[in-house]
Amino acid sequence: MLIVRAPATSANLGSGFDVFGVALDRPADVVRVEKAERTTIEVTGVGSRYIPEDPKRNTVGAVAEALSAPARIRIDKGVRPASGLGSSAASAAAAAVALNELYDRGRSREELVPVAAEGEAVVSGAAHADNVAPAILGGFTVVTEEGVTRVDADLSLVACLPDIVVSTRDARSVVPDRVALTDLVETVGHAATLVAGMARSDPDLVGRGMADGVVTPARADLIDGYDEVCAAARDAGATGATISGAGPTILAVCRSGTQRAVAVSMIEAFEERGVEAQAYRTGVG
Ligand code: HSE
Repeated sequence: MLIVRAPATSANLGSGFDVFGVALDRPADVVRVEKAERTTIEVTGVGSRYIPEDPKRNTVGAVAEALSAPARIRIDKGVRPASGLGSSAASAAAAAVALNELYDRGRSREELVPVAAEGEAVVSGAAHADNVAPAILGGFTVVTEEGVTRVDADLSLVACLPDIVVSTRDARSVVPDRVALTDLVETVGHAATLVAGMARSDPDLVGRGMADGVVTPARADLIDGYDEVCAAARDAGATGATISGAGPTILAVCRSGTQRAVAVSMIEAFEERGVEAQAYRTGVG
């Protein structure tokens, strides 16, 4: 039997819609695989009752099929589904890595990214690699049509998950189809600042580069208390805060020594709106 742990991830980081992603230390899924005649899937853990165990409807089943690797697969969910923390990507990434090794398929980690993305498409309808890339490769990743660029980064983060459900479909439907040139110029500037910040592990640059005037404002209305929680994070020492993936998690980048205060302030700001929340204090995984 092989056991693989795959981390939660946060996509977009504001200015990098469908392009940027970062692996988090926690939470994580744990996937166990054993060779079998046909693929079976068992899911336990957080939100497991919402996840189909039918291999044709599960991300992991699609990965097993793509690698011609039938297996008994047990998924212990640590990443809540529909959290904006790459829940389905974590399972798909773990399965791709585990089954590649179990069956000695010889694919590199980079080659496993599109395999896991196809698996994720089973549930999300679209093969975005912005969560599976950091889940498989770790660090901060930039995904384009041409491939994945990975950067090591060391940052102190808080991922605050409210007890709200945001459908990815709704979150994508509010994204504008077109942007004005002035918005494009601004977004390129922020995205470039963020990449420089990641390369230097500089929380001030990353926080500044997370600003986004295109996708994030359109999605913020889907998260009750979004503006208040981001303001609370900044007041407590975060350099920036934005929606994690399609939401509802809000990701904050912290200056040294402020992580605990940022986490507490974000939870309190949600609670003031009558929304329960939990916060993961994490680094880049
Ligand atoms: N980039 C995607 C989105 C991440 O924001 O919709 C979720 O798959």
